[in-house]
Amino acid sequence: MIYFLDTADLEAIKHCNEFYPLEGVTTNPSIIAKENTDFWPLVYEIRNIIGPGKMLHVQTTKEKAEDIVEEAKLLKERLGGLFYIKIPIGEEGLKATRMLKKLGIGVTVTAIFTPPQALMAAKAGADFVAPYANRLDNIIGDGCEVVAEIVRQLDIYGFDCKVLAASFKNAEQVHKCSSVGCHSVTVSPNILKILISHPMTDAAIAGFNKDWKSVYGDKTIQDF
Ligand code: E4P
Repeated sequence: MIYFLDTADLEAIKHCNEFYPLEGVTTNPSIIAKENTDFWPLVYEIRNIIGPGKMLHVQTTKEKAEDIVEEAKLLKERLGGLFYIKIPIGEEGLKATRMLKKLGIGVTVTAIFTPPQALMAAKAGADFVAPYANRLDNIIGDGCEVVAEIVRQLDIYGFDCKVLAASFKNAEQVHKCSSVGCHSVTVSPNILKILISHPMTDAAIAGFNKDWKSVYGDKTIQDF
């Protein structure tokens, strides 16, 4: 499982990058716009925080294939490191994907809602396909089952393309996707925290601390 952080909030990225086994950050135009700040300093700082060895996914703002390719080249040149251009599925997106693969630039085909969209993107050379789990759940579309079907189809046809499930609103959706072998997920800082939390864990830790202190007080192992 590859975990990505789905935000452009610099403080959240700093925190989660320090504490969690993240392999990258994903953004989209809405996520960037939420920060309401200059684009380049923001994405440079994200790259600076995560370093060149972690994946940075930035979505194109262009619509024509040739323009998407030019934008991807500029982003890759300026941001360096492991970089992936996110391109919404569509005719222009598929054309751009095929062009970018010839240039050796990583591509994530995004805004995926069906297995055929994902299969076509994989065939075009996408490194990742990003189905939107929660947006499907919102229309009673069973997002996690769609993710499962995409995982199955990519496996049947032997594509290297990975599923990057996105648009999560709760930890249960993430858990269901990991249960069906989804290769990667992108989640909010809040969901990341919920994924490692449990009241029984808190109770267990409190019990260990209480029992230790009842005998050794404030001494730690290093004090012996
Ligand atoms: C991935 O980066 C997607 O763009 C993102 O997860 C979509 O999430 P949303 O449905 O909450 O907007």
